[in-house]
Amino acid sequence: MKIFKDKHTLQKEILKTKGISFVPTMGGLHKGHISLIKKSKKSQFKTLVSIFVNPTQFNEKSDYRSYPRSIKTDLKKLKRLKINYLYIPSFKDIYGFKPKEKVFLDKFSKKLCGRFRRGHFEGVLNVVNRFLEIIKPKYIFLGKKDYQQLYLIKKHIEKRKIKSKIIECKTIRENNGVALSTRNSNLDENQMKIASNVYYYLRNFKKKIKKNYNFFNLNKIKKDLKGLGVSKIDYLENYNTKNFKKIKRQSKKFNLFIAYYIKKVRLIDNI
Ligand code: PAF
Repeated sequence: MKIFKDKHTLQKEILKTKGISFVPTMGGLHKGHISLIKKSKKSQFKTLVSIFVNPTQFNEKSDYRSYPRSIKTDLKKLKRLKINYLYIPSFKDIYGFKPKEKVFLDKFSKKLCGRFRRGHFEGVLNVVNRFLEIIKPKYIFLGKKDYQQLYLIKKHIEKRKIKSKIIECKTIRENNGVALSTRNSNLDENQMKIASNVYYYLRNFKKKIKKNYNFFNLNKIKKDLKGLGVSKIDYLENYNTKNFKKIKRQSKKFNLFIAYYIKKVRLIDNI
């Protein structure tokens, strides 16, 4: 595994290759990241992982400061996985140049997390646009857990005619159903149990409304979730996952999108 901290040396190295499969991360590597990396390793190209806790996508400074970091264990995991390249850039390496492409922010960025985390998706798209320009990967591997992020990156790539292809990867869950997230390390045992109960509640609920949409009563679900120990719900909405249209009637193709808090920890999922 070759480690790079500077884009010019990285570019010199990867220019020699046939192409790159890219897995962007903010570190705090868990089984979800590992699954993306393993998928990437199966591609015909060399695997490059980046670790960069991107400050511009945090809407609160305190959240940026307290975001779980574990570079030493991350390095061990990546070495074991035998990835080809690791890129750990500085802020200046990423933000010290003017990218050729302007960020395209689809209007869907105003919904769901966009309503509650001001500037979050601008920050995500900004950093991803820069990474794409530096690395010019053939493939970029993204998880469906952050579905809105994935959708917005897809729209940006389409609009700007960028040649990288997104490989969408399924959400990896703990045995208790909770979607893997770096932020899960902030949950204690009891809070993890609440997150697990939320998952099973929503999964069963989805089954029920697939059969009979008349069961769909958001206020009741929100009340039930609070009863399970959820402290606050930012949103709970159902969308068609292909076109992000709101579902109004019985439909098979939809996901429930949720962002909620257990005490101070904010979790998102789509089921
Ligand atoms: O999903 C993430 O970890 C981040 O949003 C990403 C895509 C690495 C950009 O900072």
